Amino acid sequence: MSKRGRFITLEGGEGVGKSTNMAFVEAWLTAQGMEVVRTREPGGTPRAEAIRELLLDPALQEPLSVDAELLLVFAARAQHLAEKILPALARGAWVVCDRFTDATFAYQGGGRGINPARIAQLEQFVQQGLAPDLTLLLDMSPEAAKERLEGRLRELNTQRDRFEQEQTDFFMAVRRAYLDRAAASPERFAVIDAAQPLEVVQAALSHVLEERVAQWQ
Ligand SMILES: Nc1ncnc2c1ncn2[C@@H]1O[C@H](COP(=O)(O)OP(=O)(O)OP(=O)(O)O)[C@@H](O)[C@H]1O
Ligand SMILES: [Mg+2]
Repeated sequence: MSKRGRFITLEGGEGVGKSTNMAFVEAWLTAQGMEVVRTREPGGTPRAEAIRELLLDPALQEPLSVDAELLLVFAARAQHLAEKILPALARGAWVVCDRFTDATFAYQGGGRGINPARIAQLEQFVQQGLAPDLTLLLDMSPEAAKERLEGRLRELNTQRDRFEQEQTDFFMAVRRAYLDRAAASPERFAVIDAAQPLEVVQAALSHVLEERVAQWQ
């Protein structure tokens, strides 16, 4: 096995089950004997989480410019890489991250309409070639995911964040951008039908992990 740990990301729109399945992926890897570092974006370290607040806070009345949003996402990512992801990978830990740069292409690219070539420039600047080894894309229709999310918003009694307040066409564009990226890099992505019952989604995740992890050993 290589000395560097592997980097796995979970992606998909709001309410598709990323956070729910993070624990499952972590438990699966831990059972194989890997040291796992579980984290999320935007955020993952105290300063990066402070940037997340700036990105998501619906209470700040001033609009956030599209470019400022993009740069904040990458500022948080630079901090997260330097303080958490890169040190973990270097010591051989596996990193499982709830959203990463594919989300930037999906939300700021597909959703906000930023040219993906500009996002790719920042990706190169900040990541210098680092990319996930495996990206688990949980895919389902935004309408169905919205129903799940409404259940959760009721449970937690929270306000919608800046992204959750967007309209259906925004989420359709996000989904399309994710699927286009998956189609462009099939060796990195696994697309999972997230509309299925949780046990079926998790059986699919196990199957992908078994197949990919075996390839790396
Ligand atoms: N396969 C599933 N079937 C039914 N409900 C599910 C399934 N997966 C997750 N859920 C439920 O859907 C809701 C949203 O799931 P979760 O919070 O994991 O989504 P998420 O992708 O992390 O959302 P966000 O992008 O907003 O962080 C939760 O209430 C969760 O219990
Ligand atoms: Mg989540």
